[in-house]
Amino acid sequence: MKAFIVWMVGLATVVPQHAWSGEQASLLEKYARQARQESPDFTVFQPQRGELFFTSRHSGGKPDTPACTTCHGATPTSSGMTRANKPIEPMAISKTPSRFADPDKVEKWFGRNCDSVLGRPCTAQEKGDVLVYLLKQ
Ligand code: HEC
Repeated sequence: MKAFIVWMVGLATVVPQHAWSGEQASLLEKYARQARQESPDFTVFQPQRGELFFTSRHSGGKPDTPACTTCHGATPTSSGMTRANKPIEPMAISKTPSRFADPDKVEKWFGRNCDSVLGRPCTAQEKGDVLVYLLKQ
């Protein structure tokens, strides 16, 4: 029982309560578990850190995709465009509520896109930070 309460309190600090779907919330819980395994110093996902990560120019990836916003549009509420000029719906869940509901889809695109932008996989903390940022938009 004590362990359960500690777990619940821990979860509440990692995953702020919002009107997110069960799928979106459990995805965040999964990344929180992974982030703790990756780093014992991990405490919570931070939307500000996610925003910085999502909007900054990175190095190490492909030269024509230096940032997540290269394809996803300047702001989360705007539409984006693939390199082949196909439209991408906004990442903000206020605009596209179906976002981040399918864990396989999310993992597939984090895999591709982190490789394109960073030249490496994203860490669980980076994924969680980006998700809490976009889930608040
Ligand atoms: C080369 C263009 C491109 C870049 C750069 C890019 N993305 Fe994407 N991303 C896409 C496309 C295309 C999709 C799939 C279409 C869709 O979901 O609307 C997608 C989908 C996603 C999804 C899944 C969304 C969902 O609804 O489940 C996530 C998460 C994501 N991208 C995160 C990122 C992050 C983080 C970065 C920066 C590290 C990034 N993307 C950079 C093109 C890009």
